[in-house]
Amino acid sequence: MSDDRRLVAVVTGANRGIGKAIVRRLLLQTSKPLIVYLTARNVDRGQAAFDELRHEQLKAEPQLRNELRFHQLDVADVDSIQPFIDYLRLMHGAQGVDVLINNAGGVVRDSSGVVRRCDADTAYRTVHMNYFTAVSVTSLVLPLMRPRGRVVFMVTALAHLGIFSGDLPKVLASDDLSLQGLHIIENGFVSSVGKGTFSAYGFPPMPFAVAKAGLIAYARMLARTFARDPRGLIFAAVCPGYVRTDMTGPYAPLTPDQGAETPVYVALADDEKRLYRHNGGLWKHKKPLKW
Ligand SMILES: NC(=O)c1ccc[n+]([C@@H]2O[C@H](COP(=O)([O-])OP(=O)(O)OC[C@H]3O[C@@H](n4cnc5c(N)ncnc54)[C@H](OP(=O)(O)O)[C@@H]3O)[C@@H](O)[C@H]2O)c1
Repeated sequence: MSDDRRLVAVVTGANRGIGKAIVRRLLLQTSKPLIVYLTARNVDRGQAAFDELRHEQLKAEPQLRNELRFHQLDVADVDSIQPFIDYLRLMHGAQGVDVLINNAGGVVRDSSGVVRRCDADTAYRTVHMNYFTAVSVTSLVLPLMRPRGRVVFMVTALAHLGIFSGDLPKVLASDDLSLQGLHIIENGFVSSVGKGTFSAYGFPPMPFAVAKAGLIAYARMLARTFARDPRGLIFAAVCPGYVRTDMTGPYAPLTPDQGAETPVYVALADDEKRLYRHNGGLWKHKKPLKW
């Protein structure tokens, strides 16, 4: 373990899209000295992104104030997560991580690249790819978070409570919702899609939004659960806006760099009071957003 005082930031799914733009911003546009972990599930793709960003950094800042590191991490594979956790503990000690940005995620497409309609398989895969993976990574990284550490979840404004009906909006936003309860809701969505009963339970036919709503509820729950933790951790769900990436195609209005602005703000902003005031909340355009 080192006694390095640089902040340590981890970004998942960072080989392309908003994740790569987040790493670029952390490396090049922040005033705090950082070690940034660009993680990706595929070693070749991750290494290619690392090489590209490192090259940009060398050109922009030959003294390399911040340090970029690559580590393989498939957020859907516990056998990949645990070695990374062990590595972080070895490199940075029992509590050495300052920032975790849960960026990996996306939609399920068919073989011609079209986003698949809401069937049982799509619902299962989307909820796992976005919700359960981020919960697994976060629960394993949380013990390693340093005092005042920050955990960010990438979500979407489509996941607002108004897409749900019946009791679901109240239940999802309830201060009594437990992690087990939230898992039951997400799994309940998947099984009700399979049975064709999802709308009777108050779910929309929108797996991506239901999965991301789970993450918004999870961020709120973590803020409540850790309210008395002496480390003073900060949690946030961030809407990047409609960003031009492989997920959305060429017509989305925002660049990946613009999409990276709010997650990086929440991860590093000095205005801790503002972040604590909205701990567990939803953010867009660097402002708190009502869920
Ligand atoms: N773009 C938007 O307008 C928009 C709007 C709202 C929310 N978001 C959210 O913002 C985040 C980034 O979006 P994006 O548009 O940049 O998406 P993207 O271009 O599709 O990139 C997704 C990234 O996630 C990675 N990933 C997927 N599954 C993974 C796994 N199991 N383990 C590790 N990495 C994995 C992908 O890696 P591979 O290259 O290996 O596939 C890729 O690097 C996502 O969570 C997305 O849902 C985006």
